[in-house]
Amino acid sequence: MIGTQNARLKTIPEWRALQRHFDEIRDVHLRDLFEADPGRADFMTIEDVGIIFDYSKNRATRQTIDLLIHLASARSLQERIHAMFSGQKINTTENRAVLHTALRAPASERIFVDGENVIPEVHLVLERMADFCVKVRSGQWPGHTGLPIRNVVNIGIGGSDLGPVMAYEALRHYSLRDMTFRFVSNVDGTDFAEAVRDLDPARTMFIVSSKTFTTLETMTNARSAREWLVGALGDPAAVSRHFVAVSTNARAVSEFGIDTANMFGFRDWVGGRFSMDSAIGLSTMLAVGPDRFHQMLGGFRAMDDHFRNAPLERNIPVIMGLLSVWYSDFFGAPATAILPYDQYMKRFPAYLQQLVMESNGKSVTTDGWPVDYETSSIYWGEPGTNGQHSFYQLLHQGTRLIPVDFIGFANSLNPVRRHHDLLMANMLAQAEALAFGRTPDQVRASGVPERLVPHRTFAGNRPSSTILLDHLDPAALGSLVALYEHSVFVQGVIWDINPFDQWGVELGKALAEKIIPELESEEESTLCHDASTNALIRKYRKMKVS
Ligand code: F6P
Repeated sequence: MIGTQNARLKTIPEWRALQRHFDEIRDVHLRDLFEADPGRADFMTIEDVGIIFDYSKNRATRQTIDLLIHLASARSLQERIHAMFSGQKINTTENRAVLHTALRAPASERIFVDGENVIPEVHLVLERMADFCVKVRSGQWPGHTGLPIRNVVNIGIGGSDLGPVMAYEALRHYSLRDMTFRFVSNVDGTDFAEAVRDLDPARTMFIVSSKTFTTLETMTNARSAREWLVGALGDPAAVSRHFVAVSTNARAVSEFGIDTANMFGFRDWVGGRFSMDSAIGLSTMLAVGPDRFHQMLGGFRAMDDHFRNAPLERNIPVIMGLLSVWYSDFFGAPATAILPYDQYMKRFPAYLQQLVMESNGKSVTTDGWPVDYETSSIYWGEPGTNGQHSFYQLLHQGTRLIPVDFIGFANSLNPVRRHHDLLMANMLAQAEALAFGRTPDQVRASGVPERLVPHRTFAGNRPSSTILLDHLDPAALGSLVALYEHSVFVQGVIWDINPFDQWGVELGKALAEKIIPELESEEESTLCHDASTNALIRKYRKMKVS
């Protein structure tokens, strides 16, 4: 990611040592690892920042961890961490600093980019956001007709949507319940139509969230929103009371017709998927209020401090990131399941999909060489216990090895009868079943007929980490998100790839721009795509009614 890892990863001694070690332990069962090392659960549990991280049910020994830490040191992880936090331009393909950590730094900190201390502006934006949110939440921000704003629709996509919607859902318990929050992202008109169909335009505010303010989906939805609002209120001047923008692009905001006094900015050193604690979090602050937003930033900051200061072997994001490398590159595991046992965390897996896969789904090193190892795992998941009745079958008995992150809270925000103990019992049981399985002898001993024994056997030895927190609050959410952000960074350092660009999304966007007029044109134009695309365009044009 920094262009300094010039030695090819698979040739360095630390990697080779891991390869030899892997050959020795690849088939060792977790049952045997637990039996051989009674201190394993203690040794492989790290408690800090309000998080208990138990990674003992992973296919690793104390020696594996030592070797992975040696690998991290050989890849200069600590220097890379310092480079990121101090504002060096580690996003080399875009010549940008990577400073999402500055968004939660205290006002007293000084971090320089191109000779400018970025911290005062961060805090100024936070103050402006707070001032705005207090007005809207208290009903002191009248809409065009004088009625108070009570509905907020965030229009954005990717990092300008997934963070805000995930945080809103996660912190819904703390949100102002007399306000309605909606999130529109898809360019499919259904998304917009369904989001606004029961909203009163006179009480509705749109937040147009877009780092670039050029994204096709967001700008299309924003224009439809403007048309909907002006059509209903009958006056273009209404836009000024019903639209605010979050962006780095003041010119485009103003061209769209939003007064830049109603714009909340951030800088290009905040990547879209790392932006939920920037002004992109405006909808989050509107929902939970400035104090709780600051508690969330405190949670991010606590994890930042841990990441910067804890020794590598007791560092949660470091161990998590290294285990991802271990499974992707040595075990060849294709995917990672994120299984939060908390209904409020239902969008967390979707959020992590962008954070992890847009960051580390790369196949060239920082200096442009093709990698000869696997990079990002495929992340997906669903909240427990729903996933148990859907895809866990494959986790337990499928042919692929899928490491799992279980995320749970000791206390429910909605204690209803025995529900929470049942929920948590399921989480613990799943981790136990995955790790230890059920042998054919155990199956027979339970009276299962011989012909069913193979079907009822669980091989076990399926790895998981368990992340346990006290309860879900803004600080806990901030720490969890920062944990995964930093784990992504660790993986990028080991693989020597740049987790902070996303060139892979560009080609599809460019081709769509070419196809749009071909679909909309009344004239039969010459099509110069491949035969399949040409034929599909022609068929679409014939089929569409208007
Ligand atoms: O297309 C990918 C992407 O660039 C993401 O990285 C980003 O989060 C998303 O689009 C939205 O971009 P913007 O905030 O500029 O609208």
